[in-house]
Amino acid sequence: MHRDNLGLDAVDSRFLQTCDLPQDDSYKKPFVLVIFGGTGDLSKRKLLPMLYHLEQEERLSHHSKIVGLGRGDITDKQYRSFVLDALKTFAIESFDQDRAKTFCTRIGYLAADARSDAGYQKLCRRIRDLTAGDAADSLVYYLAVPPDLIRPTIEGLFKYNLCGGRLTPKIVIEKPFGRDKKTAANLNHFILEHFNEQQVYRIDHYLGKETVQNILFFRFANSILEPLWNRRYIDHIQITVAEDIGVEGRAAFYEQAGVVRDIVQNHMMQLLALVTMEPPVGFAPDLVRDEKVKVFRALRPVGDEHITTFMVRGQYAPAGSVPGYRSEEQVPPDSNTPTFFAGKFFIDNWRWAGVPFYLRTGKRLAARATQIIVQFKQPPLRLLGRTCDIIEPNLLVLGIQPKEQISLRLNVKHPGPGNRPHAINLDFDYSRNFGLKKHSAYERLLLDCLRGDLTLFARADEVEAMWEIVDPIIAQWDSIPPDDFPNYPAGTWGPNDAHSLLAHDGRAWIEPEH
Ligand code: BG6
Repeated sequence: MHRDNLGLDAVDSRFLQTCDLPQDDSYKKPFVLVIFGGTGDLSKRKLLPMLYHLEQEERLSHHSKIVGLGRGDITDKQYRSFVLDALKTFAIESFDQDRAKTFCTRIGYLAADARSDAGYQKLCRRIRDLTAGDAADSLVYYLAVPPDLIRPTIEGLFKYNLCGGRLTPKIVIEKPFGRDKKTAANLNHFILEHFNEQQVYRIDHYLGKETVQNILFFRFANSILEPLWNRRYIDHIQITVAEDIGVEGRAAFYEQAGVVRDIVQNHMMQLLALVTMEPPVGFAPDLVRDEKVKVFRALRPVGDEHITTFMVRGQYAPAGSVPGYRSEEQVPPDSNTPTFFAGKFFIDNWRWAGVPFYLRTGKRLAARATQIIVQFKQPPLRLLGRTCDIIEPNLLVLGIQPKEQISLRLNVKHPGPGNRPHAINLDFDYSRNFGLKKHSAYERLLLDCLRGDLTLFARADEVEAMWEIVDPIIAQWDSIPPDDFPNYPAGTWGPNDAHSLLAHDGRAWIEPEH
């Protein structure tokens, strides 16, 4: 027990030391980062600009080295010019020629085919040189490669003794992690034959977003929320992950994935878990991840009838100059791939029994907006006159992006002689309160990985539990073709059925302000 400076008692967690997150948002020890897929789209758009940004802000050691691997037979010099081009295009706002050139001096290239021994032999030599003595403190393999290259890459690393050693390398694996529970479990099994779980960083970039991390802080740093955060006071929770863009040249991938694999299985499940999990006993990675897994286990499995009745799929149709999904390049004209999902879920545990969770996400919706809305129950007694029939429910809005804010809607008396309620918002806004410069989610995740903090990465059982929830939805939708696709015009809030889903329950989606 300790007494804070107001003289109030608080019990120390016995895991308190694990909560002491590094205050520093830099990593000043030298590291070696090997990017498999160093010339690919992810490297170009996200990883290289993110590393450059960290460099620009002096948040990385100048003695660090980055090695891009690719199949192309190019020289270090050519790769650096590829990197410069990537930065000019994707780090355009912060691009500075001199800084970018200095950044490039830390970058090298290695022509290597993930399936050929010769590549790993070269990699062995390169890693040996870069880590000789105590030249490096940390070694990370970032697999920015298509799913079919994950196994050959790990096999290659293992064969050439690159999975262990003094630096205990970390391996970062991008989504999609498997296509269903079975393939994810097989992949986990395979990875864990070569690395141990503490070395494996399964990325979900949503967890690197400041506003997503804030969900746990907001919940567990405020004592007034916990008594209300349950079935007694909460009517329902809505989670919206809306994108206004289409498939942006990624149709070949998207055709294989569809909205459930692309967003629901990972980003949306993570948001749901953070909003609903029990307080962890401490902030250590496994203590947090244990609680998330418990939520997934408590999610009511969705059977055929539930899916038919409470899940809605959609695909966008053309609108104005915006092409429909079926006219996107590399999409067959009769594609049944869903680009929209809405569904109702229940969490059968003591806290949430009976509370509906409505989730929706889609491409080409009316706005880009990710938000979580907690709608509270109405007061139990109508006390304030007939006009109070229109009393608005209390809403807590957690704006994840692009509006990074929290707002609480309460009712007050409208000035004047009558008893007229009036809804007002108490608002918190990240940029107004902190004026923070925006950091990409990848920056935080890479720094955590270098530091060895797994809290924001998905554990093997967590990934499998998330697949278990969505597998039946994908299976049913694959086996019964939709008869109404495309069923929502681009630029709208999705098919009508998504609105009926809530209307049947006497509720409505709360559209984000935009
Ligand atoms: C990715 C999906 O995981 O997340 C994309 O594959 C999607 O389809 C993207 O566009 C959305 O991320 P953000 O950070 O823009 O919300």
